[in-house]
Amino acid sequence: MSGGSGASPENGGGIGATQAADEAERHQPAHFAFDEESERRIPGILARYPETRKASAVIPLLWLVQEQMRRQTGSAWVPKAAMDVVAARLGMPPIRVYEVATFYFMFNTRPIGRHHLQVCGTTPCMLRGAEEVARACRDATGIKAYGETSADGMFTLSEVECLGACVNAPVLQVDLDYYEDLDYESTVRLIEALRRGERPRPGSVIGRQASAPEGERTTLLDVPGE
Ligand code: FES
Repeated sequence: MSGGSGASPENGGGIGATQAADEAERHQPAHFAFDEESERRIPGILARYPETRKASAVIPLLWLVQEQMRRQTGSAWVPKAAMDVVAARLGMPPIRVYEVATFYFMFNTRPIGRHHLQVCGTTPCMLRGAEEVARACRDATGIKAYGETSADGMFTLSEVECLGACVNAPVLQVDLDYYEDLDYESTVRLIEALRRGERPRPGSVIGRQASAPEGERTTLLDVPGE
């Protein structure tokens, strides 16, 4: 993922990646504790693994942290204090948890905007208009480059590799939802809706059924007996 540092709230753009890293350090909470909802889910997660292999639960527990932060702060990320709590809970060295949290792109190790816009930039999406989707994201949020957060704190823009929905390319992942078959205009409309606090229905924005062909059926046209 690339990160820009040229734009800033002062010059009308988003928060640059370097600045965001400094912000992250400043905003690292001193403490973290699982809340009631997370604690309710932890026994079920730990039960999937043998007692001697508890470390295998590191990814689901980091995910619980990130979702708890989304609930509590509106920003889905994993603070360092939370990584330490996960390490203690699983009886593993903190460095092992840091390694996992920083390796997987699904974990945000610094605060992000309320909505995480993840543009798929891999070949099928690129051929079907991913650059227009990215341009719409920049225009509608004021963000100048991947890695930045908008000045209003509403959006963080990232480029990701194949999201596994190539048949409905181009695809934009917003938080946990996929929006598919996008173009410039539909992406702008989506972001404007998110800004109004709405949550448009995920999936194909042109009404495609699942991953069926656009428009009419193109195969299996002969029905025996008809
Ligand atoms: S290339 Fe974008 S979803 Fe596969």
